[in-house]
Amino acid sequence: MSAFDLIVIGGGPGGYVAAIRAAQLGLSVACIEGRGALGGTCLNVGCIPSKALLTSSAKFAELKHLSSHGVSVEGASLDLGAMMGRKDKVVGDLTKGIAFLFKKNGVEHIEGWASIPAPGQVKVGDDVYEAKNILIATGSEPTPLPGVEIDEVDVVSSTGALKLDRVPDHLVVIGAGVIGLELGQVWARLGAKVTVVEYLDRILPGIDGEIAKLSQRALSKRGLKFQLGRALKSIDKTDAGLSLTVDRVGKDKEETIEADNVLIAIGRRPVTRGLGLDDLGVAVNARGFIEVDGAFQTSVPGIYAIGDCVPGPMLAHKAEEDGVACVETLAGQHGHVDYNTVPGVVYTDPEVASVGLTEEALKEAGTDYISGKFTFMANSRARSTGETDGAVKVLASPEGTILGAHICGAHGGDLIAELVLAMTKGATVEEVARTCHAHPALGEAVKEACLDALGRAIHA
Ligand code: NAI
Repeated sequence: MSAFDLIVIGGGPGGYVAAIRAAQLGLSVACIEGRGALGGTCLNVGCIPSKALLTSSAKFAELKHLSSHGVSVEGASLDLGAMMGRKDKVVGDLTKGIAFLFKKNGVEHIEGWASIPAPGQVKVGDDVYEAKNILIATGSEPTPLPGVEIDEVDVVSSTGALKLDRVPDHLVVIGAGVIGLELGQVWARLGAKVTVVEYLDRILPGIDGEIAKLSQRALSKRGLKFQLGRALKSIDKTDAGLSLTVDRVGKDKEETIEADNVLIAIGRRPVTRGLGLDDLGVAVNARGFIEVDGAFQTSVPGIYAIGDCVPGPMLAHKAEEDGVACVETLAGQHGHVDYNTVPGVVYTDPEVASVGLTEEALKEAGTDYISGKFTFMANSRARSTGETDGAVKVLASPEGTILGAHICGAHGGDLIAELVLAMTKGATVEEVARTCHAHPALGEAVKEACLDALGRAIHA
């Protein structure tokens, strides 16, 4: 029987990063993964393939808009197979990279599905391994919709939407969250009519309402159709394709939508089945997330959990932070994650990026705040590139400490980093506003939003 200081179950961004960090700290570590390739949802069927397709489809879509730059392109065509092939290569190279990093750091990679027969033991097939500590990093999977069968061909989850073999005439996306908007935009750019059906009366729940409205306006301009306040009831297969019945929320009214493909993107749920948590007595909450304390320990000593299978934002970078903090604490250091400064990015065009509190949350809590906003229309770099949709919005205490920042705009996912660092360091809007920003740059919109919060924006 092999014995380790730490066995990590799950080779996604939470698990593999924790395994490498633990090995750096001198622990003997094994990481168990059943999927075949390392990298979890993020690398195999999530963040990375979706970003590859977002980039490829953006290049294709851009060809139609080059005439305003005085560039004409004739005869451009789409080779979907080649686009998918590139995406698969990007994924393959990155997942192999993790296997290389495991070798380099001395992490033992065990292939197979793991269970925990008893504290201190992990079973894979017929083999049982001993572990001083066990870290569960088993991630999440798409939430199914009761009564709707996902066959990953006609009715797809995010996994199937990353490998459609033709551009649908009409793709209906259920759920105007992160996945629905990103993958909806991929297929819209490639030529599909895309209708997004959303239960709520707004898109991107959890994102600052004003910024979500800017995003909806920009996405509508780029061809996405939104049907808000509607819930999917059922999908029937017909000779012509798929027939969806949707309820008008609160109106006792039904509508029918015809589609070639339907993407169900209504959220994700933790994956813990097969681990044996019930028998071990590991506590999970009502939604199936594993309960952990401040050091990521579950209700059973020696068993820890991180990432999407514990409560908190379901984001790869949050899982990484969890994993590093967990194993640093195990190694006697002081691991810590500040969940108030975890950024979120939606990689649509324009991007949506946020950190900290929204204006709605501040109002609900009755917190006094000041706010500043600057639109990209007034930013000279955005004007020169033609990416003028959206704005930067900052929210701060009356003394100026930044409490939240929200961006809708080109490269918003990169611009937010400055405000995340500012929040991490407890910086004020005055300090960001007095920082010298290069000209002409999109980052000047961040500076101007901070100036606006102080009532002294220069270019607005
Ligand atoms: P989500 O929670 O972001 O959005 C789901 C949407 O579906 C919500 O707006 C909800 O109101 C709606 N909905 C639920 N049931 C419905 C029904 N029956 N009919 C119509 N609408 C319905 O979930 P999503 O987009 O599936 O993403 C899952 C997770 O993956 C999120 O936690 C997200 O943070 C993460 N993710 C992050 C990415 C990123 O950081 N760029 C990319 C992709 C996913």
